[in-house]
Amino acid sequence: MAEDLSILKGSKIEQYESLLPQIEGLLHGENNLIANLANISAALKEQFNWWWVGFYWVHEDELILGPFQGPVACTRIKKGRGVCGGAWEQGKTLMVEDVEKFPGHIACSSASKSEIVVPVFKNGNIVGVLDVDSELFAHFDETDQLYLEKIVRMIP
Ligand code: SME
Repeated sequence: MAEDLSILKGSKIEQYESLLPQIEGLLHGENNLIANLANISAALKEQFNWWWVGFYWVHEDELILGPFQGPVACTRIKKGRGVCGGAWEQGKTLMVEDVEKFPGHIACSSASKSEIVVPVFKNGNIVGVLDVDSELFAHFDETDQLYLEKIVRMIP
């Protein structure tokens, strides 16, 4: 049974540096995908209190909603659609400062203003994406990209 998270206040880098080993601890010895995606979502939500954080997972030709924290969300996204489908198609992290200016953005919630989507790779293929939404414009930067990419690489 996992201990409570220790939530650090400080710079963004300090927060990620404190969270990373704790996520490693949560994943250690557990290979169930749903359990691990659920705990990563919860840990990120608890540390950063983002509007929405969670996973979409690849099933055939679409992404299907997986474990997340936040308001209810759209369940299926086609390849190339929205920020999530775009990150999947392009095979790279997408950061959007103002979602209303992103062509094809899928508005699950009108409160969401900026977004980062990080692909999850397994054996060179994208198996899912980590999606984070903020109710603030331009909330995400290269530090988020760096650490979120590290976090998804920790998924066993
Ligand atoms: N906005 C995303 C859809 C998922 S929700 O934000 C949770 C997109 O454009 O892909």
